[in-house]
Amino acid sequence: MATIGILRETYPGERRVALVPTTIAKLKKSGLEVKVEAGAGKEAGYPDDEYAQAGAPVVERREVLACDLVAGVRILGAAGESWSADLEGLGASAVIIGRCDPLGAADVLRDAGSRGWTVVALEMIPRITRAQSMDVLSSMATVAGYRAVLLGAVELPRMFPLLMTAAGTVTAARVFVIGAGVAGLQALATAKRLGATTQAYDVRAACREQVESVGAKFIELSLPETSAEDQGGYAKELAEDFYRQQRELMASVVAESDVVITTAAIPGKPSPLLVTEQAVKGMAPGSVIVDLAAERGGNCELTQPDQRVQQHGVTILGPTNLPSEVPYHASQMFSNNIANYLRNLVKDGQIAWNMDDEIIRETVVVRDGDVVHPRIRSILGLDPLPQAAAEQTAAVEETAAGDPPQPESSGEDGDSEDTAS
Ligand code: NAI
Repeated sequence: MATIGILRETYPGERRVALVPTTIAKLKKSGLEVKVEAGAGKEAGYPDDEYAQAGAPVVERREVLACDLVAGVRILGAAGESWSADLEGLGASAVIIGRCDPLGAADVLRDAGSRGWTVVALEMIPRITRAQSMDVLSSMATVAGYRAVLLGAVELPRMFPLLMTAAGTVTAARVFVIGAGVAGLQALATAKRLGATTQAYDVRAACREQVESVGAKFIELSLPETSAEDQGGYAKELAEDFYRQQRELMASVVAESDVVITTAAIPGKPSPLLVTEQAVKGMAPGSVIVDLAAERGGNCELTQPDQRVQQHGVTILGPTNLPSEVPYHASQMFSNNIANYLRNLVKDGQIAWNMDDEIIRETVVVRDGDVVHPRIRSILGLDPLPQAAAEQTAAVEETAAGDPPQPESSGEDGDSEDTAS
């Protein structure tokens, strides 16, 4: 029977925990034994005795590091400097699972490989129907979208709802969301529930229906329709000329908004500039921008990560870890996601590395001492592994024979093709 150890997070300000007590029974059913580091759930509202009651011994960190699987919300590159203290505690065949910033901190994965570890990067879960229940990025984006609106509402010197009172009429706040993905849609729904007038823009015209379904108006810009999704279903980079046109066309919408929430970040790349300083100058004094893409530079020119900037009478917030500000539910969602992933990975108490399973293949980034994920190998400048190289050669030969290869299907969701850049 394999054991999984749950780490107490050490990244500064991180309050989430990777597994909550109610999920332990689920893992036991898969044959996993669970151990939890003392104090792991404290900040999120899950005390040690709840874990013990659920059947998970509460142990010291070194015992967690010695488990067959070691899980955290943030591991390796996503845990920053705090991770270095654990390097010696992990065994040579350690399997580590969590968020590790594989595209932004690929060099840390190379080091993990040289130590012989296996690393599962939960950020790499493909956006396909079968993996929806494991998708930690979507869960955390939901929390972030909700929290972003609350932050904006607190900063704004106006109220959100339309009020008709004996003291006169208070007009509703106008909230504009740029990027109507998971975080954006939750931001729209939350702002609507608070009584704001809501509108959104997304490069994917297909978003219109979803935007309208949460009571918001979809803003049309005369830009070429494009696909902003990569093969994994995540946002991808578009041409600079597209962004330039978008900035110009959007400036008037930004100017008439009280709160602007931006969510257009590109995994592993700098965030595109969508709101310039000039556009900020056009906003009314007291307006607020909440930039969810702050971690990689932000969508607004004036954003500073984790800072509250005030310029031209506008407040610009660049929070980089909003899910940690709602740690109870963020942990509950993360926990369900990771448990669903593990139920797919562990069969009868043993880890089954079925690399034919798209979910496992995409998320196992380092295995048995080597970086195995093609995208991360390419970031690191490493040659493709022999099997991937053989597949590439076969694809080239097939193309030469006049039969162009079809993009690999990601399941029922379907993939978008790159028409943008
Ligand atoms: P997503 O991929 O579901 O949504 C991003 C949306 O932006 C997509 O609909 C995409 O079409 C759209 N988009 C891309 N380029 C655009 C452009 N130029 N103009 C307008 N729309 C554009 O991503 P999700 O899950 O909603 O996350 C959004 C962002 O929020 C992510 O980048 C994520 O890193 C960030 N996030 C930030 C947190 C924080 O605490 N600051 C916490 C969680 C997520």
